[in-house]
Amino acid sequence: MRVHFNYFQELLMYVCLCNAITDKDIKQAVTEQGAGNIRDLRNHMSIANQCGKCTQITQQIIDSTILDESLFKEVC
Ligand code: FES
Repeated sequence: MRVHFNYFQELLMYVCLCNAITDKDIKQAVTEQGAGNIRDLRNHMSIANQCGKCTQITQQIIDSTILDESLFKEVC
């Protein structure tokens, strides 16, 4: 995994090196597009479609993002 700082000094982690997809891209697709698994994610971006080495970490990021989102949702 490669870690870079973007212009705004945000920490980015490249998850899929074949397609230059970062953890932020994945989290954004989960929170804004409702992607809940890699198949859903592929509707929004090209990921895990070449060497496949990113498949496991991608699913872990999806799962942890869903968990984080559910912990901070308002309960009525
Ligand atoms: S690192 Fe994602 S397909 Fe190769």
